[in-house]
Amino acid sequence: MNGYRDLRVALLGCGSVGAQVARLILEQGDELAARVGARLQLAGIAVRSLDAKRDVELPQELFTTDAEQLVLGADVVVELMGGVEPARTLILQALEAGADVVTANKALIAAHGPELADAAEQVGAQLSYEAAVAGAIPIIRPLRESLAGDHITRVLGIVNGSTNYILDRMDRFGDSAEDAMRVASELGYLEADPTLDVEGYDAAQKATILASIAFHTEVPVDAVHREGITGITSEQIQAARNAGAVIKLLAIAERVTATDGTQGVSARVYPALIDRDHPLAAVHGGKNAVFVEAEAAGELMFYGAGAGGVETASAVLGDLVSAARRHVVGG
Ligand code: HSE
Repeated sequence: MNGYRDLRVALLGCGSVGAQVARLILEQGDELAARVGARLQLAGIAVRSLDAKRDVELPQELFTTDAEQLVLGADVVVELMGGVEPARTLILQALEAGADVVTANKALIAAHGPELADAAEQVGAQLSYEAAVAGAIPIIRPLRESLAGDHITRVLGIVNGSTNYILDRMDRFGDSAEDAMRVASELGYLEADPTLDVEGYDAAQKATILASIAFHTEVPVDAVHREGITGITSEQIQAARNAGAVIKLLAIAERVTATDGTQGVSARVYPALIDRDHPLAAVHGGKNAVFVEAEAAGELMFYGAGAGGVETASAVLGDLVSAARRHVVGG
C-alpha cells in the first residue's frame, strides 16, 4: 500500500509454524500494514536446507541459508528454529544490531530467558515470546501486562497437548497407555523425542516461563520438580474416575511462605488428580488451558490450541505486530 514505510522482517526457520507465519505475512500484507502503520516486508527466510519440503508454497527467492546476514539490517527478527543454538547467538546478534525479536522457542527461553531479556533491555529492544507457552493461547501478555497490577497467587496449566491427549483417551475411551501413545504418535502430536512430552520436560520448560512472569522472579528450569505420565496406568485412571476425579499432567507455580516467613515460588509438573467439577477437567484432547488465581481478579482461565502450525502462528503474528508498532510510534 502506498504511503507506508517498510519494516524489514527476518524469519529464522520454516517449519510448520514458520511456513504459516510467512504465508500470513504475505497474504495479509495490506491488512497488517493498515494495522501497524508500516508495511511488514518479509526480507527473507533462513533455513538449513534450501531443498526441504515446506507446508506452504513460498517464493523461492525468499530462502537463504545465511541467517547471520539476514539478521543484519532487520527491524524485527522472528526466530522459529527451535533449540538453543544457533538460535540464542542469532537473537543476541539481532538485539545488538537494534532489532526487536519475536520467538516461539520454549527451550531457549526456559534456559536463557533472563540473559536474552537483559540483552534486550540494554538496547531498549523488545523480546516477546507469546507462542512459547500454550501455542495460540494469549497467556504471556495477560500475565505480564493485563495482570501487572494484581497479585497472582497460583498458576495451574495444562500446557502439554500430547500428554493431555493421551490421558484424555485413557479416561474417555478406555485406551491403554500404549494404545493412546500410539495414536498420539500417529497424529504427529508428540515431539520428535517423545520423552520431552511424556516425561514432563516440555511442560517443565513452560512452567519455568509462566512462573518467572507471574511471580516477577527467575525460576530456573532445574528448580521445577518434574514427574511425567509414563507410570500412569488404566487402573489409576479408572480409580480416579470412580472417585469423581481425572488425572491431568499439570504445571503448577505458586507463591509459598517458608516457616521462617520467607516468600518463594514453588513450581512443579506432575500427573495431578483434579476434581471433575474443576474447569481444567473439561480440557479434552490436545487442547491446553492455563488457570490463574489472582488476589483481585479471582479465577481466570485461558483455553485453546496449544500447538499446531497456523494456531501458533497467530500468537507469533500478534507479537510481530506489537513489535512493528513500536517502530512506527517511536519513529
Ligand atoms: N509437544 C508440545 C505439546 C507441542 O504436546 O504440547 C507444543 O509446545
